[in-house]
Amino acid sequence: MMPPVDYSHGELIVDSRYLQTCDIPAVQVRVDPFTLVIMGGAGDLSRRKLVPALFNLFGQGELPELFAILAFDRVDLDDGSYRSMMEEAVRKCNTSAFDGPRWNDFGRHLHYMQGVFEDDKAFERLRERTDLIGPPDPKGMRCVLFYMAVPPQVVPLAVQKMQAHSLERGSHDTRIVIEKPFGEDRRSASRLNRIIMDAFNENQIYRIDHYLAKEPVDNILFFRFSNTVFEEVWNRRYVDNVQVTVAEVLGIEHRGAFYERAGVVRDIVQNHLLQLLSLVSLEAPIGFVPEFMRDEKVKIVRAIRPVDPDYIDRFMVRGQYGPGVVDGKEVPGYRGEQNVSPASTTPTFFTGKFLIDNLRWAGVPFYLRTGKRLPKRVTEICIQFKRLPLRLFGRKCDVLEPNVLFLTIQPDEHIALRFFVKYPFSSNQLYPVRMDFSYKEAFKMRHLDDYERILLDVVKGDLTLFVREDAIEEMWGVVDPINERWESNPPSDFPNYKAGSWGPEEADRLMEQEGRSWLTT
Ligand code: BG6
Repeated sequence: MMPPVDYSHGELIVDSRYLQTCDIPAVQVRVDPFTLVIMGGAGDLSRRKLVPALFNLFGQGELPELFAILAFDRVDLDDGSYRSMMEEAVRKCNTSAFDGPRWNDFGRHLHYMQGVFEDDKAFERLRERTDLIGPPDPKGMRCVLFYMAVPPQVVPLAVQKMQAHSLERGSHDTRIVIEKPFGEDRRSASRLNRIIMDAFNENQIYRIDHYLAKEPVDNILFFRFSNTVFEEVWNRRYVDNVQVTVAEVLGIEHRGAFYERAGVVRDIVQNHLLQLLSLVSLEAPIGFVPEFMRDEKVKIVRAIRPVDPDYIDRFMVRGQYGPGVVDGKEVPGYRGEQNVSPASTTPTFFTGKFLIDNLRWAGVPFYLRTGKRLPKRVTEICIQFKRLPLRLFGRKCDVLEPNVLFLTIQPDEHIALRFFVKYPFSSNQLYPVRMDFSYKEAFKMRHLDDYERILLDVVKGDLTLFVREDAIEEMWGVVDPINERWESNPPSDFPNYKAGSWGPEEADRLMEQEGRSWLTT
């Protein structure tokens, strides 16, 4: 029976009798006083994501009364100028009206310290400052969280210095949060893991993939393993292929220097795309405990068939955007972006076919696709089912696409199933329709955005959404051969797609040669 829904006051009221509480250990609810040290606290990530998210959490009453945020960065600022800089940044990000008095309350928790990672004295001062401003709990102990909002290549030095200067001293609970990309390949990731794990235990390390904090992504396992009608057909017998798309309209913005080193495979494929692929394909964990879920993730990534140069040349496509028109505006090509070499061979588009060698998925292709400067922003998983074996409606109807399940993650959060019905009053025509579930319509509530969720989970000490050491390394193992192949064979045809198009023609040809086409809505 469907839960009755009451729209009487314009607000949706879900009948709590129908809310099913799962047998999942509740996360720690009480949040201790904490000090959050943001390494790179004046940088882009802090301005665009971290401080705005913290301000929102503060506004929603999610933070404890006692907390301090200490930004550590090389630029010459003091508490006052840092607060002004962040106020401006938050004003820019806020879509709703800026709450001045609330900002004044929040701003008092912000502190700044200038320093560079090479300077030992700076770390001494950082420790003293943390002790000074950090709110202790009633027993006089402290919870100190270090957020590494810095480029991956400087993380090892920062961690070694933190360890050398016992920055966790006097604290009962220290956590370290590491942004992606975690290393640049399997070797550097494993080296980074060793350095961090020399200073911290695995349960103190929060390796981020912000896609895991998106509500519809978090929902994938709940959806898969709570619905017989889907779980029973979620395998090679019924699924023809799976397509995962992360399409962006944006270019590389002001991140030219970072992107030149990273490229699309390190920036999106190694993490966001492989995370989505693993959530949609992994086996049911033996319980909803973070460790069990993390175990299944590692298993499925290990089951991805390794790719060799010949396979990469046949089943993977790279691209780089040239100038074009996006949202009616002319935009430069990648090579014309700031801090990008005019002869750059860095790819901004990727598509490729992956196979998973296990019993559930043997023979089912998983097509992954991502790119910058595509015509629309959409992150979506499409599960295309097989055709019915019987040609009951004759050959013409066989050209109709089979059923597709769309898990749309952004910008609209939907789950939709495409199927056919008889066109009304006709006797021989079928028509595709969608059965659509929209988060926005069903639950008229705002959920936390990805960085709010990440920061809240770090503060609460909930590791579920963070990536374990072995998973990170296995994911690098999947993409390293692709980077090696492409970096040792520079492309001669870049740029090979226009900004505002769906990528190079080879991406469509890849699907044609497979006898399929892209399904994204
Ligand atoms: C980041 C990448 O991890 O994800 C960016 O570094 C990309 O290049 C971004 O633009 C996309 O995130 P979202 O949440 O906007 O889809």
